[in-house]
Amino acid sequence: MSSDVAVTDDGAVRVIRLNRPEKKNALTRAMYGAVTEAIRESDQNEAIRCLVIAGHAGAFCAGNDITDFLSAAQGDLDPRAHQFLLALARRQKPLVAAVNGVAVGVGTTLLLHCDHVVAGTTATLSTPFIKLGLIPEAGSTLLAPMRMGHARAFSMLIMGRPLTAAEAKDAGIVNTVVDPAQVDDIALDAAREIAALPPRTVAVTRGLMRSHLDDVLKQIHAELTHFKELLQSDEARAAFTAFLARRK
Ligand code: COA
Repeated sequence: MSSDVAVTDDGAVRVIRLNRPEKKNALTRAMYGAVTEAIRESDQNEAIRCLVIAGHAGAFCAGNDITDFLSAAQGDLDPRAHQFLLALARRQKPLVAAVNGVAVGVGTTLLLHCDHVVAGTTATLSTPFIKLGLIPEAGSTLLAPMRMGHARAFSMLIMGRPLTAAEAKDAGIVNTVVDPAQVDDIALDAAREIAALPPRTVAVTRGLMRSHLDDVLKQIHAELTHFKELLQSDEARAAFTAFLARRK
């Protein structure tokens, strides 16, 4: 278990907190592994009825750790990010996100798999994959157009334009926009509300609402094929190196 992810059970609600604020909660391989384990265990654990994923005040998640991207670009490909995406898409229990501050890359695309999203007024959602020489992942090339229509998905996924919390609500990614200081509490309240519902009817209805799951899994695999190839490109390598070398 990574110390950069804190997993705590509060009654029937499991809170998965990304806990690397000094790096804006950029996800390392170990963090992917820890979140995957918490999700997979909850699939088998009848006591857990709802999950919450949260970050810290300034950062929900700054995406994949770019140092790890660079080592993947140098041939050291690790399966944990992919395993995380599959566990996220397949998971059995509803997931609520508490989004404060920045959500970048997978920090944004994972939200398309959540069942309920609470965001602070100052939150921003962005997917700068193209500018990094990569393509969007997590099934977002299917889920984003489905959720917000082609034009808005193009603006976000391809042009890399960030969404404010209010725009994300308008686009159907976020349910509620609240004062940043209240994000965690309101997300936890929503999770408790879900956890108090009859679990079997929640599970059956949610399963029916996700009849496109096989398509999502196929899209995740298709994206990965291109993603792996693009990770090795000179363009991507140069973008990672430039980020890591930038001066403040
Ligand atoms: N990978 C590795 N380190 C990251 C990171 C990432 N994805 N995102 C942030 N960090 C690190 C920074 O390098 C910095 O480290 P340092 O203090 O050792 O120099 C620290 O986190 C704080 O980030 P900083 O950029 O100073 O904060 P900011 O508030 O000015 O900007 C972001 C925050 C998230 C907008 C900016 O860090 C950023 O653009 N990160 C890259 C996001 C990204 O492209 N992710 C991949 C998407 S596919």
